[in-house]
Amino acid sequence: MADLYDYPEIYDERFTDRANQAYKQHYEKMLAGKPIRSILDCSFGTGCLTFPLAELGYQVTGSDISAPMLEQGAKKAEEKGLPVDLLQCDFRELFRSVNQAFDCVMSTGSAFAHVSNGDVAKALHEMDKCIKPGGYLYYDSRNWEKELQSKKRFQVGQPFYREDGVRIGYVQVWDYESDGSVTIHILQSYEKGGRVFETKEFEEHLHPFALGLVRSELEKMGYAQLEIKPCPWFEDKPFSEIGWYCLLAKKPEAN
Ligand SMILES: C[S@@+](CC[C@H](N)C(=O)[O-])C[C@H]1O[C@@H](n2cnc3c(N)ncnc32)[C@H](O)[C@@H]1O
Repeated sequence: MADLYDYPEIYDERFTDRANQAYKQHYEKMLAGKPIRSILDCSFGTGCLTFPLAELGYQVTGSDISAPMLEQGAKKAEEKGLPVDLLQCDFRELFRSVNQAFDCVMSTGSAFAHVSNGDVAKALHEMDKCIKPGGYLYYDSRNWEKELQSKKRFQVGQPFYREDGVRIGYVQVWDYESDGSVTIHILQSYEKGGRVFETKEFEEHLHPFALGLVRSELEKMGYAQLEIKPCPWFEDKPFSEIGWYCLLAKKPEAN
């Protein structure tokens, strides 16, 4: 089954200018008053959730495991005229590849669920090694606890229009596997003049993780001032009602 990350142009079809604007506002609120200039996003993808930071004037570096996603990201950076440094690496071995420290290290786009729970802990420790003393760690994620409570099977997205007028329909089917992982089947239809002329199918295999796992790893490393907000953050809600959240935490200052 096809991997969506091998088709970065299709991945990007869903990210609108409106979403870009919403994320700019989100980061402005989340990072307000924090002494952050340099940011590394270790699941940069094509940069949908990272370019808003570059547009706000942050000095952005991006890494990702997928070469096709990064190639598309590099093309977009050039088109947008935004200076973004990119490198290919697995966030479970981040420090070895990056070997540099930033004011803030992020993982955007709910990427942690692509690896096992044990590897989420490993990724957090790798991110920590790339954060300056007193800097920040940030990630966003689907709220897996909420998903596992509802165990939805189907999700039908609002159809949307590509620039050339093609109407794209979007359906997800979720399978809950016996080992606790989740397979998401993504079906897309392409329609013009009332006729579907193409369909595409992708599959994602994900590993739900609890917020508690991240909290306990961050506490072990001495992180404090944890802020957990909806992503993007427009209004505060109890965690159990948030579908997609982000967490920002402060690394201890050097002794
Ligand atoms: C849903 S996409 C998010 C991409 C981008 N941040 C965005 O929001 O558009 C998840 C990304 O995580 C990347 N990824 C998955 N496993 C990874 C790993 N072990 N190390 C680095 N990146 C990984 C994928 O290649 C993909 O680009």
